[in-house]
Amino acid sequence: MDDMVGSSLAICGVFDKISKVAATEMPVLLTGETGTGKELTAQAIHARSVRKQGPFVPINCAAIPETLLESELFGHERGAFTGAVHQKKGKLEAAGGGTLFLDEVGDLLPSLQVKLLRFLQEGTFERVGGQETLHVDTRVIAATNVDLQTAIDHNRFREDLYYRLGVLHIHLPPLRERGEDALLMAMVFLQQAAATTHKPIRGFSAQAIEALRTHPWPGNVRELSNRVRRAVVMCEGAEITRQDLDLGGEDLHATDSLDSLRAAHQRIETELLVKALTLHRGNMSRIARDLQVSRSTLYRKLKQYGLEKITPMLTPPLASTKTRRKPSGNSHPSEQSAVRITESPVVASLEPASQVP
Ligand SMILES: Nc1ncnc2c1ncn2[C@@H]1O[C@H](COP(=O)(O)OP(=O)(O)OP(=O)(O)O)[C@@H](O)[C@H]1O
Ligand SMILES: [Mg+2]
Repeated sequence: MDDMVGSSLAICGVFDKISKVAATEMPVLLTGETGTGKELTAQAIHARSVRKQGPFVPINCAAIPETLLESELFGHERGAFTGAVHQKKGKLEAAGGGTLFLDEVGDLLPSLQVKLLRFLQEGTFERVGGQETLHVDTRVIAATNVDLQTAIDHNRFREDLYYRLGVLHIHLPPLRERGEDALLMAMVFLQQAAATTHKPIRGFSAQAIEALRTHPWPGNVRELSNRVRRAVVMCEGAEITRQDLDLGGEDLHATDSLDSLRAAHQRIETELLVKALTLHRGNMSRIARDLQVSRSTLYRKLKQYGLEKITPMLTPPLASTKTRRKPSGNSHPSEQSAVRITESPVVASLEPASQVP
């Protein structure tokens, strides 16, 4: 759950909702484009709920043939159909005491929509071929990346089920609407991938950063994660290039193009700051020393280039950290987080302001 990265206003709104809905037992509907983090969100809700010790059982309604889905979901009795030689519990029962994650709920057949609605209203169901009415204590979190309202208009989805499921609704915004989150996630994914591959990659080239910032990310976080992991494999130097990310275009050498002095200055500053942040994991003193600027200049520059939100992301997890306080005790707030040190090379955790609270 604490794997959720982001500090944009849009994703902080999602984190806030996750905390609120986790405290209830009601069904939740998650919507959002592919790869926006619906399953991760469902896991986060489960892990924050009173059911966290219980199972989290995902089922993808679109991935299972229609003829098998009812039995997969609700189970079957022995002899219910050819091949049903044993009684079998469905995912709904397997998730008893926990959470059922019903992915691609828009693909449920009308007959199963009725059965699900009844379960949501009364908590009861029958296995396929069974007469006995069964009860199970399972919370349902459903997700879809199709517009259910359109499905309702075309009579493909029951309106009553939509209202029952969607009392608590969380929409995952597309990555292109999350500002600097793409860059921030890219850095976290890079550190994770570089740590597992043991490659000494320190960061992204300026052109790679520009590409990360401007790419529209139709596949959202999944696409970003895959591109960064692939780039780490392809990378031959100390930094990931635009070609490594396979985002079109090439890293330009200084002689290939002419920037205005001002643009070049900004590009180089951004590149240096990002490199220093990655290298020193947000340790402000070390960054200021290496870049030979005062800490106040450093903070001003980070703010100027929108990088200040990334800084806390690069500090290690509290759980695996030791804290060294400066004797004066008067350090800047960012400086306090920056003095944490860790043995772990993997930096993938979040500061409280950037994670599910
Ligand atoms: N906020 C986030 N921070 C870090 N990783 C994330 C975040 N959101 C999503 N991911 C990662 O992106 C990938 C896609 O996420 P997930 O499977 O939850 O998306 P989804 O919305 O269910 O996609 P689909 O609609 O295609 O099933 C996963 O590897 C997940 O761990
Ligand atoms: Mg999914």
